[in-house]
Amino acid sequence: MQVYVTIAAMESEQTKSDRLSTAEVARMAGVHKDTLLRWLKAGHVPEPRRDRHGWRHFTESEANAVIDFANASGEIINDQQMSFLAKKQTPYLGKLTTIDWDFAGAKTSYLTHGLHPYPAKFIPQIPNALIQELSGVGDMVGDIFCGSGTTLVEAITLKRHAVGIDANPLACMISRAKTSVISEADASDLLAVVQRARSLSDLIISSEEGSLFPKEQFCSKQWRPQFEKLDFWFDAHVIEELAEVLSWCRDVESLSARTLALTAFSAIVVAVSKQDSDTRYVRREKGIAPGEILRRFARSLEQATRAAVEYSELIEPRFMCQVVEGNLLTPPDIPQLDLMVCSPPYPNAYSYHLYHMTRMIWLGMDQPLFKKQEIGSHRKYSSNSKNGATVETFKAEFSSILAWLSSQLKAGGYACFVVGDSTLKGQRINNADLISDVGQAVGFQEVMRIDRTMQSSKKSFNPAIGKIKTENILILQNAQ
Ligand SMILES: C[S@@+](CC[C@H](N)C(=O)[O-])C[C@H]1O[C@@H](n2cnc3c(N)ncnc32)[C@H](O)[C@@H]1O
Repeated sequence: MQVYVTIAAMESEQTKSDRLSTAEVARMAGVHKDTLLRWLKAGHVPEPRRDRHGWRHFTESEANAVIDFANASGEIINDQQMSFLAKKQTPYLGKLTTIDWDFAGAKTSYLTHGLHPYPAKFIPQIPNALIQELSGVGDMVGDIFCGSGTTLVEAITLKRHAVGIDANPLACMISRAKTSVISEADASDLLAVVQRARSLSDLIISSEEGSLFPKEQFCSKQWRPQFEKLDFWFDAHVIEELAEVLSWCRDVESLSARTLALTAFSAIVVAVSKQDSDTRYVRREKGIAPGEILRRFARSLEQATRAAVEYSELIEPRFMCQVVEGNLLTPPDIPQLDLMVCSPPYPNAYSYHLYHMTRMIWLGMDQPLFKKQEIGSHRKYSSNSKNGATVETFKAEFSSILAWLSSQLKAGGYACFVVGDSTLKGQRINNADLISDVGQAVGFQEVMRIDRTMQSSKKSFNPAIGKIKTENILILQNAQ
């Protein structure tokens, strides 16, 4: 991991005093972190509270106890400690340099994070650390390309308000499902649907006709999309079972429970279709057996319900989450942001409108509109026509987005971009450089850049350059 911090940024760092990490307290006490860990283990200094990821958070008085113990054991007070004692403050950005951003082996599907697959979603530990260090409780945290809502879940659980924007209606539905609070009554309604799916699946699997399903068991108002290529992407029995399940989901009464049910439905669509995978839009026979669709749906909805109950118990409802379906090239109105954290689309990397097409058709979403609006899609950049997108297209789009962002973010606020490289017509593009340059032209200043290695299971796939193993966390600061 490499960290670059500009001197100007370090000098203009902001401060917060409520929580201090182990490394930071060790630095203030003028001892090595291992020494402090030894003191904690031996009970020489009080053990602070840990967050749910296991990180220690020292209060000011706990930090002072460590400093006192260091003094008593003959350590010399250093300049940093003196300044802490004088100001009771600690720098923001400096703390980011003490984090191991690779998060190797970290669990990434806790709470509602595992509800639905989403290509190129980032691991929750990244927005978690950025939100903890660059914002305070009660602040407004935004993700302008919120995708499946990773930043939003982390912001709310860290007691911030959250606002997410995405042009993809499926992304908005997933984000809403992941951040919705459900009641006990909602949970029991949903678990009744799970049970219904299991029973019908058992009936189909045990039916004498083998591959035939007991049609009389299906309710009358099945909902199936009007799409001429439906048979190309789905076997006939898969269509029957999906249509049945969808009608149940649409009948769920409360909005948040219905959103969760539809998201659990959407989560299985690609796996039971003939689309090869979530990031491969080619047809492949998979031999999905009758009854299997209902069984997979039951599992998906049961897991989603349990995750939503856990999330609902954990969060405080006073922290609001808003998800806005909108195109950033004609940006919507949002509240003023204290911090922005996103992983943006970048040239030639993904084609969400294609990967999500079968799901969007089932859910009655406007896929052609999203196709027009999607930034960076492989489809637009691989075209050889004179209207095909180029790096200049991306720069122009980002220039207008960052100019708008500058007006939505508080003065001095940080905008963080988690971004990898891409290749366009054989030329490698450093997207962090590109976003930084465009940002500086509209009033941002680059204050930090971190290289991180991605978890092996999370390597993003770019058809042009294969597996990407590293990415950058770029932090820009809005003009003061
Ligand atoms: C890399 S993904 C974000 C993933 C997200 N960080 C997560 O963890 O799920 C980039 C997102 O940008 C969205 N996007 C693309 N073009 C857009 C546009 N014109 N306006 C708003 N969002 C757009 C895509 O739909 C996609 O969800």
